[in-house]
Amino acid sequence: MTSPTPPTAPLTELTWTDHVTGRKGHLVIDRLVRGVSSGGLRMRPGCTLEEVAGLARGMTMKEALHYNPKGRYIPLGGAKGGIDCDPRAPEAYGVLVRYLKAMRPYIESFWTTGEDLGLTQDLVDKAAAEAGLVSSIQAVYPLLDDEDAARERLAAAFAVDVDGIGLDELVGGCGVAESVLVALDRAEVPYAGTRVALQGLGTMGGATARFLARAGLKVVAVADLQGTIANPDGLDVEALLGARDAYGSVERSALRPQDRELPGGAWLSVDADVLVPAAVSYAIDATNQEEITARWIVEAANMPVLADAEELLARRGVTVLPDVVVNSGTNAWWWWTLFGDIGADADEAFAYTRRSMRALIDQMLARAETDGTTPRAAAHAIVADRLPVLAERFGWYR
Ligand SMILES: NC(=O)c1ccc[n+]([C@@H]2O[C@H](COP(=O)([O-])OP(=O)(O)OC[C@H]3O[C@@H](n4cnc5c(N)ncnc54)[C@H](O)[C@@H]3O)[C@@H](O)[C@H]2O)c1
Repeated sequence: MTSPTPPTAPLTELTWTDHVTGRKGHLVIDRLVRGVSSGGLRMRPGCTLEEVAGLARGMTMKEALHYNPKGRYIPLGGAKGGIDCDPRAPEAYGVLVRYLKAMRPYIESFWTTGEDLGLTQDLVDKAAAEAGLVSSIQAVYPLLDDEDAARERLAAAFAVDVDGIGLDELVGGCGVAESVLVALDRAEVPYAGTRVALQGLGTMGGATARFLARAGLKVVAVADLQGTIANPDGLDVEALLGARDAYGSVERSALRPQDRELPGGAWLSVDADVLVPAAVSYAIDATNQEEITARWIVEAANMPVLADAEELLARRGVTVLPDVVVNSGTNAWWWWTLFGDIGADADEAFAYTRRSMRALIDQMLARAETDGTTPRAAAHAIVADRLPVLAERFGWYR
């Protein structure tokens, strides 16, 4: 039997302890649709079950938001995995493999996963193979009409490279950048010269910076784990992208003489119109929000703005475009490609992502205006309307 209203508690929450290192890992399945859920796996020191539960709930929302009754892809439920370990620690890979071995029954049956903060898809794929899995998304295969063709299409899409960056690492940022552009369009602010500062230049931040720079915006600051790099006249984004290590840290020798190195928190307070937090959760709190002078905060990261900070920001006219909509492009692209809504082609993927994100952001901002709420509350209201429809139509279990 399906429930007409979303439950407040996640379906499954579990914590695993690595018998070798004592490190903890978590899995939260927030919800299933047709027996399957979707959500990446992150690795960071200090990762908690509470954080993973919040992210899993966010995945339920991202899936539901992309429901298109005419599309081939039918949204799944939401889930998330998290491992409390520094991804650069020497034992990290072993921990990852053992975590995936422990999670095998879930991944085989109802949790599809992929890269998130601290992990790349290549690493997840390698560790998944070592853990004896067919694939990190194998739970969805029984839902496909033609599994072989679908898997070939997704593999071909993963092999597409655009100017040195894989398509899979670009689609998410394409969606974030489009969200920024919609906000500018609605406010009738020209792209050229609009200033952007980002926290994070990894998968999400890097791709967002590329798309925004190519649209004519000026990237004036980026922060990575080593600190902030800033230039009020604009950074050379492609040079910085080319100087990243596997964890999204920029080799400082690539900086130009006019680029400045500032402390880690400086990205928040630089003179910018748009802030894109694209690294850690909880980056903007009630205290440091006071330093923000930007007009928009566009959440590429998951849960970067705390609720009390968002309230204070809203009071002084700063608009926060929420993660559940803004960064939903990567997840949706996997499924659009696998289910066959789009082919293994960069132009098609970017066009589809842009169209879908533009429609979603417009719908959310229109609802926020009608309801007199924040964009986040409007996104949640859209999800609340949609979840019962999904549950009624497709059911929780296969
Ligand atoms: N990768 C995806 O497909 C995807 C999709 C949706 C949302 N997200 C979210 O986007 C965020 C970033 O994920 P990613 O995959 O781009 O990560 P990543 O590991 O590829 O890159 C992270 C970047 O953030 C920087 N960083 C890390 N900690 C920092 C800190 N304390 N201060 C400043 N910079 C710091 C790193 O140096 C790096 O540049 C996460 O919140 C993740 O959940 C990722």
